[in-house]
Amino acid sequence: MSMSLRTILFVNERILETLRTDGPVSGEELGKEFGISRTAIWKYVRELRCAGYQIESSPSKGYTFVSAPDILFSGVIKSDLETHIFGQQVIYHEEVHSTQDIAKTLASQGAVEGTIVTTEIQTGGRGRIGRAWKSLPESVCFSIILRPDIQPPEALKLPLIAGVAVAQAIQRVTNLSPKLKWPNDIFLQDRKVGGILTEMSAEMDRLDWVIVGIGLNVNAPRESFSDEISEIATSLRIENSNPVPRVKLLQTLLAELEMLYVEFREYGFEQIREKWKVLSNTVGEQVVISSSAGEMAGLAVDIDSDGALIIRTEDGSLEKIIAGDVRLRRISDR
Ligand code: BTN
Repeated sequence: MSMSLRTILFVNERILETLRTDGPVSGEELGKEFGISRTAIWKYVRELRCAGYQIESSPSKGYTFVSAPDILFSGVIKSDLETHIFGQQVIYHEEVHSTQDIAKTLASQGAVEGTIVTTEIQTGGRGRIGRAWKSLPESVCFSIILRPDIQPPEALKLPLIAGVAVAQAIQRVTNLSPKLKWPNDIFLQDRKVGGILTEMSAEMDRLDWVIVGIGLNVNAPRESFSDEISEIATSLRIENSNPVPRVKLLQTLLAELEMLYVEFREYGFEQIREKWKVLSNTVGEQVVISSSAGEMAGLAVDIDSDGALIIRTEDGSLEKIIAGDVRLRRISDR
């Protein structure tokens, strides 16, 4: 009898779960548990090894789980996840045009909050303001579906919340100290290491869904950046000098994001705004904002309770910025 791909994946995940939780298990015991032969179990284990799992076998003990591959697929991410909502559903594709597109389709079909779409390669990654997002090898690229019970203008706060989560996750997994550029760029040593794209479907007074897409340059070596790009962009590995475990980083990021999201729902934005300001490389800087309305220069003085950037222009007036591209003069003028 031929088994569907879904059944094969299901059995693989169950074998892994059993090996991880129960320690060494013989092929015979596994076979009994899943109602298949020892030879069939051996074939599944061979498949798992091909996918990068390290599973030892010995005639006396049976199969022992050693380690999982550092690949963003469902079974790997879901094991050891600290969350209750985020990442409980993981849709993994080896290569996609953009994880945002897949997440949007899933969201409009009713996918549950916290569903994530991950990939190894994006061929048409999107950035903010209609820009392209080039996915480098060994990045962390994913989109998460949110269904927050907030008014559409409040959605401006979500990328800031995600920015704090990304920065905190990087701090937890590495010794690096990332900074946030308003509204949602992640910086290390004055170079961009990641970005966040937020897209949504809304009615006048209600959000249907929000997709937060996060792209982080994780283990890309210096050679993968052109001379021009390496002036403005970097990867965690370049700054950390060691490879960064991507699965651990994504799991930590989901945990940080879920904690902040729950905090936002229960207590509002105020505490998160304070955290954002501590992580900011924007407040206190001379900036130039480009938007469809043109350019505006001034001193970034605050992030207000709506998540907007407040700048003091040369004539002393305060302007509230809710969209646009921010250039830090300290970096762009050097
Ligand atoms: C930016 O810096 O302008 C935002 C970049 C966001 C990139 C991520 S990667 C995962 C998700 N899929 C996309 O196509 N874009 C976002």
